Amino acid sequence: MSMRNGSVAGQSLNGEVIVVTSGKGGVGKTTTTASLGAALALRGKKTLVVDADIGLRNLDVILGLENRIVFNLVDVAKGACKPNQAIIRSKKTPNLYLLPASQTDEKDVISEEEVKRALDQYRREFNFVLVDSPAGIEQGFKNACAAADRAIVVTTPEVSAIRDADRVVGLLTSRDVEPHLVINRVDQNLVQRGDMLSIPDVQDILGIDLIGVVERDEAIIIAANCGEPVVFNKKSRAGDAFSRIARRICGEAVEFPQLDGNSFWGKLGRRLGMTGS
Ligand SMILES: Nc1ncnc2c1ncn2[C@@H]1O[C@H](COP(=O)(O)OP(=O)(O)OP(=O)(O)O)[C@@H](O)[C@H]1O
Ligand SMILES: [Mg+2]
Repeated sequence: MSMRNGSVAGQSLNGEVIVVTSGKGGVGKTTTTASLGAALALRGKKTLVVDADIGLRNLDVILGLENRIVFNLVDVAKGACKPNQAIIRSKKTPNLYLLPASQTDEKDVISEEEVKRALDQYRREFNFVLVDSPAGIEQGFKNACAAADRAIVVTTPEVSAIRDADRVVGLLTSRDVEPHLVINRVDQNLVQRGDMLSIPDVQDILGIDLIGVVERDEAIIIAANCGEPVVFNKKSRAGDAFSRIARRICGEAVEFPQLDGNSFWGKLGRRLGMTGS
């Protein structure tokens, strides 16, 4: 994923809008948005995470910012407030800001054009705008994609999630939004026993650029309950994985770890033409 932003101090940025989507519900879109937002911010990138899951907001809770909401995405889209009035600055994570969703509106209360106009206003001030999409492929998904340059498609290694991700990849491609794949909640033991699809299996089915693999990790659940992004947990393998994805988003070539030949990481490495690490 290339970085197309200029970030010279005092000059306007040309931030990139990235939608995080999946089709299937519950696969880790909100977790991915919060974790990548924090990881990019920790790398010094001014990052806005946008909760586009109107009516079912939860990015605010995961980031521990639920008590500070005044305005929301719908207010910005309808011109009821200025763009800067609606964003909340994280106290824990410098450079990280949240544009929350409205809790009381329906998903179709705003149009794609309104969302695009609202989010384009943040490109000048932010390096990255990450948009957390609702599940499904209806109006909420279309709104979340409206301003996107690129997409992160999250799936788990389960057939139903992969099938929905495949549908979403088709829709993104037809909208000229380039998709990158995150495979989330991978369980090494299940893969090694042959009870879970391997990374190459999932890649084969979806056929898009793999930007990260995140293991099943209970540190994610603990982090969500504490309102502190998992990338702050130095012992969490999932946190490390999200930090690596953030570096790849910034254009760094970051190897996939532990390519020891026999494990699924090894299979992944061979698949990517990489050896050892
Ligand atoms: N790698 C992981 N390891 C363990 N638990 C995870 C992982 N990723 C996500 N989870 C958990 O799975 C649940 C669903 O995650 P999340 O809310 O991010 O999914 P979602 O795709 O945003 O869901 P929805 O479609 O409802 O918006 C949460 O409880 C989250 O903590
Ligand atoms: Mg969600």
